[in-house]
Amino acid sequence: MKQNNWIPRKDSPGKRAVLLTGGAGFIGSHTYVALKQAGYEVIIVDNFSNALEDTPERLQQLTGSKVICYADDLLDRSAIRRIFDNHPIDAVIHFAAKKSVAESTTAPLVYYENNVSGLIGLLEEMRRASVFNLVFSSSATVYGSPETLPVRENAALSSTNPYGFTKLVCENVLSDLQKFDPRWNVGILRYFNPVGAHSSGLIGESTTGIPDNLMPYIAKVATGELPFLRVFGADYDTLDGTGVRDYIHVMDLAEGHVLSLEELLDGAGSHIVNLGTGRGYSVLEMLKSYETACGRTLPYQVMPRRPGDVGEVVADPANANALLGFEAKRDLDHMSKTSWNWMLQRMD
Ligand code: UD1
Repeated sequence: MKQNNWIPRKDSPGKRAVLLTGGAGFIGSHTYVALKQAGYEVIIVDNFSNALEDTPERLQQLTGSKVICYADDLLDRSAIRRIFDNHPIDAVIHFAAKKSVAESTTAPLVYYENNVSGLIGLLEEMRRASVFNLVFSSSATVYGSPETLPVRENAALSSTNPYGFTKLVCENVLSDLQKFDPRWNVGILRYFNPVGAHSSGLIGESTTGIPDNLMPYIAKVATGELPFLRVFGADYDTLDGTGVRDYIHVMDLAEGHVLSLEELLDGAGSHIVNLGTGRGYSVLEMLKSYETACGRTLPYQVMPRRPGDVGEVVADPANANALLGFEAKRDLDHMSKTSWNWMLQRMD
């Protein structure tokens, strides 16, 4: 068992306080629940550009305590400064960013401004408030087209699109910051493919528009909102020819954030880790699992490969396990079931 050496800041009321940027979004809201369960004080700031408006109320219902949520944009520096002035914050978990590969190719400046300028402004405000602990949302996208599987953290980094480059630039900014200013403690978490929802069905992924990602798309085929799944390529060198990814349940991912944060607050230092399961599933396996969850056959059509896609990406989670004690516990069945449960609640 790891020893917890965390010492509260002088002006801290005793409970550790964490600011979640983008805390009303998909991964942010689930991390909120995991942090509250672990006994943290949590403050959310979110501009609600990709979050459901009633998320704070739902979080309140789920956790049984009042939710502190600021509806502000990260680029509004004075608003962010006010939050640090109002609360004695010990650490920040930074989720707030744009994440669509396709959109980033049509609006690269919006992506660089939100993701890169957003991070830099946040770091400036953290430094001003003497808060030097940060957990950062990165992505397996930084591995581009990996040469060896499963992917380890020391694999070559690359990207083919502006979204991916913003994550690479942000990782570089954070690495320079730690190199030249030892006060900073940073946990960089490279997410594989987060799916599923909280088992209560109260929170899940916002589902407006046509989803880019696989499971939300399948979910909309299951509700009848979309006619069939487009399977992007069945000629990859994989078990059934369709793309293989490392899907991880969002609550496992959320718990990974708590472990990363604890590592930083314990003074154990900065880290870069993959958050995945180490197990890959194909598009058709995902579809089959969802069919079991929703109880009916779902139509699909094989289409050409999606530009920029690769055949297989699977994490080596050994580092996360060794450094943080992280292990994904929830299986594919649970991922599909909880996603479907969330869709059903939305339809009521
Ligand atoms: C995608 C992004 C990645 C981003 C991640 C965020 C691309 C190329 N990559 O990853 O940068 O970090 O989302 O979660 O967009 N698929 C279908 N039909 C669909 C949707 C997907 O067949 O309608 C297939 C894809 O070809 C792929 C698999 O499902 O084989 C998973 O796709 P997706 O959920 O979009 O995730 P990634 O491509 O891994």
